Amino acid sequence: MKLLILNGPNLNLLGTREPEKYGNRSFEDHFADLQFKFRNVELSYDQTNIEGELIDKIQNARKDFDGIILNAAAYTHTSVGIGDAVAAIDIPVVEVHISNTFSREDFRHKSFISPNAKGIIVGFGLQSYDLAIQSFLRDEDE
Ligand code: DQA
Repeated sequence: MKLLILNGPNLNLLGTREPEKYGNRSFEDHFADLQFKFRNVELSYDQTNIEGELIDKIQNARKDFDGIILNAAAYTHTSVGIGDAVAAIDIPVVEVHISNTFSREDFRHKSFISPNAKGIIVGFGLQSYDLAIQSFLRDEDE
């Protein structure tokens, strides 16, 4: 099982960015934990602040991965193009968010990704990523 974790804008600053909302760990540290915890999964991690690069990475992932765990961050709420990219590929995409976007501002309640996501995991801190990986493993068992 090969999974790509793809993070969008400002998530490179995890650990120092608004720690009351996003915690005080960098994603690199959490990713190292994920690799250890899910040793049976081939995990890759990528991040970009640029909308078009996210679209390229989503398109390219369909050739190399069994699924994508996508936190498109602010573009979740604005990007028709990223929503269309998720719709265009035939590997499953699980949408994740660290914070509970539904308990925050109204503009965070809208997602252009959700209609074409396999599922959505929202509000469990960095553990949202762990739960997303587990959802793919559950599929393998079934
Ligand atoms: C986020 C939620 C988004 O609304 C926000 O723009 C982010 C992070 C999250 O993981 O909680 O950058 O995707």
